Amino acid sequence: MIRSAIVPVAGHGTRLLPATKSQPKEMLPVARKPIVQYVAEELVSNGIENICFITGRSKTSIEDHFDSDPELTRVLTEGKKQDLLDELKFEELAAKFYYTRQRVQRGLGDAILCGENFAGESPFLVALGDSILGINGLSRSVARMSELFVELRATCIIAVEEVPEDEVHHYGIIDPGEGEGDWTRIRNIVEKPSKDSAPSRYAVAGRYAFSPIIFDMIRRVLPDKRGEIQLTNAIQLLCEEGKRVVALKLPPQDKRYDIGNFPSYFETFVEFALADPLYGADFRVTLERLLGRK
Ligand code: UTP
Repeated sequence: MIRSAIVPVAGHGTRLLPATKSQPKEMLPVARKPIVQYVAEELVSNGIENICFITGRSKTSIEDHFDSDPELTRVLTEGKKQDLLDELKFEELAAKFYYTRQRVQRGLGDAILCGENFAGESPFLVALGDSILGINGLSRSVARMSELFVELRATCIIAVEEVPEDEVHHYGIIDPGEGEGDWTRIRNIVEKPSKDSAPSRYAVAGRYAFSPIIFDMIRRVLPDKRGEIQLTNAIQLLCEEGKRVVALKLPPQDKRYDIGNFPSYFETFVEFALADPLYGADFRVTLERLLGRK
């Protein structure tokens, strides 16, 4: 089983400015929790024991969030605020946290390379810090990826999600080969293809499992015209070398919530708020009123 995960959170998040001017986009709240808390909880519930965040400037609030805060705990305990103390239980998440910095934001491939020493010789997972799988992050797909990695003796497993034809140009799209059940071989990946040239409608969905050989591939990738080292190019090299690169098709309940732009952030927030066990029902009434339905 895969026990370690790299979570890149060093990006500038320019599409969410000004909200991300001095705070990481991964700390923006979705309903009651910051995005990165859903990600960490999902990883731990899928058997991940070590999490390495690739951080950068203005990202220290992520470290603070997963640290314990004895002062706050004392105040809440003295005030007998048990319900609020329960909200801090995630501080005891059964994982070890590691942090390293990507000094210059040179793209996702470069960010993952910063985790090379952390990963060592073992297979590892990559979970994008701005993407949640399934409502409230209650997905089991990372555990399934880990299982498939061993079963298929794969070099790389990528979670994919079917997207509408007119959205393929936003994503990395796979060229699928043979497969069975919930998985399929990947012949190649194309970054942001046009509708007509897309080899399928399966988009890369923010979770990857890799053998450490990926680091050698990343090192071979040349920077693109924006100076970024793209992870997609490194995966293309794996495909070219005939390595076993496989896609796990996410089940419908494991929809990927990508919080990289405002429309999807708004949508995710509303969907999670509506599903909130405490506030969801009242919020639904408010929303219907705002929409003029009541
Ligand atoms: P994005 O592709 O959304 O990039 O990153 P970004 O730079 O954060 O966003 P925009 O385009 O400026 O709005 C996907 C994930 O990879 C991380 C991000 O933090 C995010 O979690 N990332 C991206 C890095 O860690 N380093 C990078 O150089 C780029």
